[in-house]
Amino acid sequence: MPGAPFIIVAIDGGAASGKSSTARALSERFNLLHSDTGSYYRAVTAEMLRRGASAEDLGSVKSALADLRLGTRIEGRSARIEIAGSAPGDEIRGREVNDAVSHFAAIPELRSALLSYQRGQADAARRGGFAGLVMEGRDIGSVIFPGADFRFYLHADPALREQRRVKQGQVDKVAERDRLDSSRKTAPLSQPAGSISIDTTSMTIAEVADRMASVIAPSLARP
Ligand code: DC
Repeated sequence: MPGAPFIIVAIDGGAASGKSSTARALSERFNLLHSDTGSYYRAVTAEMLRRGASAEDLGSVKSALADLRLGTRIEGRSARIEIAGSAPGDEIRGREVNDAVSHFAAIPELRSALLSYQRGQADAARRGGFAGLVMEGRDIGSVIFPGADFRFYLHADPALREQRRVKQGQVDKVAERDRLDSSRKTAPLSQPAGSISIDTTSMTIAEVADRMASVIAPSLARP
C-alpha cells in the first residue's frame, strides 16, 4: 500500500501460548518481518553452553558475551539470528537449552547484549521493504518496544500449553519456565499495561490471528 505507515506489533506471553504461530500468520497477512526473540535467547544460551559458560558464574557469561558476533539472516519473512556468521540449528529446541534458557535470560548483562540487537530488527524490516515488524517474546511490549503500534498479550491454560509442546515432540517444562521468567528482576514476563489480552486456550491459530488482524487492519486502512 503506497504511503502506508510502518507498523510495529508486539506479542508477549508465556511458553507455548501461541505467539509464534500467530506472529507468523500476521507476518503473512500484513507483509511484516517476523522476529521470534525466544529463538534469540535460545541461540545465545546454546552458544553459552557450547563455550562452557554457566548461568551461575557471571564471569563466564560476561567473557562469552564479550565477543559474541550477532547478525541477522532474513529467510522469507523471518529474521533469524546468526552467531559468528552461522544460524543455529535444531539444538536450540532441545532439552538442554529448554532447561537452561530461563536461567541465562535472567542475567541483566545477557539481556542488554540482546536489547539493541532486537530494536535493530525494525531497521532490518525497513531495509527489507517490509510493511512493519511483528516481534514476539516476553518483554517486547514492556521494554523493547513500549511504544509499539499494537501490543498483545497471550494466555493459555498451562496443561494445554504443555500438551502443545508434547505434540511438537519437545520436552519442555512450560510452567517452570514461566515461573522463572515471571519472577526474574530484569524485564520479567508480565502483561504490559494497555496491551490487549487474549486467552488462546480454546481458540485456533486462525481465530487468534483474525482477532489481532481485526485490531490492526483499520489503522492501516486509515489515510
Ligand atoms: O519463546 P520461547 O519459549 O522460545 O523463549 C525461550 C526463553 O527465552 C523463555 O523461557 C525466556 C526467554 N525470553 C526472554 O527472556 N525474553 C524474550 N523477549 C523472549 C524469550
